[in-house]
Amino acid sequence: MRTPIPTKPTACWAAVPLACGALLLLVPSLASLAAGSTMKAAVLSGGEIKVESVPVPEPGAGEVRIAIRAAGVNPADWKMARMAGRMGPAPILGLDASGIIDALGPSVTGWTRGEAVIALTRPPHGSYAQYAVVPVAFIARKPRTLTFAQAAGIPVAAITAWRSLIDVANLQSGERVLIDGGAGGVGSAAVQIAKSRGAYVIATASGRNERFLRSIGADEVIDYTQGPFEQHVKDVDVVLDTVNPDDGLRAMATLKPGGILVSIVGRMAQDRCAAARIRCAIPGSSGGQPATPYLDQVVALANAGKYRVNVERAFHLSDAAEAWRLGEQGHTRGKLVLSIPR
Ligand SMILES: NC(=O)c1ccc[n+]([C@@H]2O[C@H](COP(=O)([O-])OP(=O)(O)OC[C@H]3O[C@@H](n4cnc5c(N)ncnc54)[C@H](OP(=O)(O)O)[C@@H]3O)[C@@H](O)[C@H]2O)c1
Repeated sequence: MRTPIPTKPTACWAAVPLACGALLLLVPSLASLAAGSTMKAAVLSGGEIKVESVPVPEPGAGEVRIAIRAAGVNPADWKMARMAGRMGPAPILGLDASGIIDALGPSVTGWTRGEAVIALTRPPHGSYAQYAVVPVAFIARKPRTLTFAQAAGIPVAAITAWRSLIDVANLQSGERVLIDGGAGGVGSAAVQIAKSRGAYVIATASGRNERFLRSIGADEVIDYTQGPFEQHVKDVDVVLDTVNPDDGLRAMATLKPGGILVSIVGRMAQDRCAAARIRCAIPGSSGGQPATPYLDQVVALANAGKYRVNVERAFHLSDAAEAWRLGEQGHTRGKLVLSIPR
């Protein structure tokens, strides 16, 4: 499957800090993967997504190899691909994976072959592949309540939402939170995490997503196609902007004095924030910190029936380019995923 990657420049750190650090530090060519049998993996070649045969990687110390069943699709995938296109040899694409542990590296304890897991993969070992090796600090047991396709939609979206609402905004029970873009991958994760914290959740979306958002816990849904959301929302303690910086600017009017605006789509001008008597923050780079503590908490929510993933559509690995085209339209309800052939 070949499709040109759009060449619009992207500031990697602004766009995908969760994964960008790993990309910048780790861009060895696929030749550095261990030799042996081969697997199918989606890579960028000549600016196009191609499924190629590459060596099956061998797990090193502290790593497991996962036989991937499904890969979640994130905006970071195409944003990183544009960066990778300018930086030399591309890693295997994708960050989010679900699958079965297939091999253990030296010194790995507490995990066994055959366990079902979710993972945040680390370049060059992307998730658009039949196998990936992942440090154990980046995996968690798959929720019992979710299919492999659904579980593959957890890592990037849930970690981003958790870091934004809990680590940065310190969201408390009883607080009012506005999730701008509530029906998307990060937004739907944020709605559920906020609800599980006991917050009063207001979410923006187009009208077609109202029922979905109420089903995952939104107390109010504002249809942004019917007028500016800031005319309907007041006195919130926390805003999470997942849409664009212009929405972030408008959302300032919805916050109580002393409230906090967290943006995952661009930094706010601090003078505007000060003038509005609010705090503005971004989750920033995770700096390679372990994903497991975040994933474990979201898996616990899922196992308790408090977190689910709506799979808008599943694509075959060879149709990854089509998945990206759909995702870039910006109207995914929940997640797009790739099913990985065995
Ligand atoms: N900084 C970080 O660490 C980080 C991490 C993850 C993601 N991101 C960025 O965050 C953004 C969102 O990511 P995502 O994975 O959630 O994307 P996504 O799943 O593609 O988001 C799609 C959703 O956006 C909604 N939407 C579009 N325009 C809207 C508007 N004007 N108002 C309200 N909702 C609107 C759509 O709802 P409707 O169909 O109803 O319009 C749709 O449900 C992306 O730009 C991504 O790159 C940053």
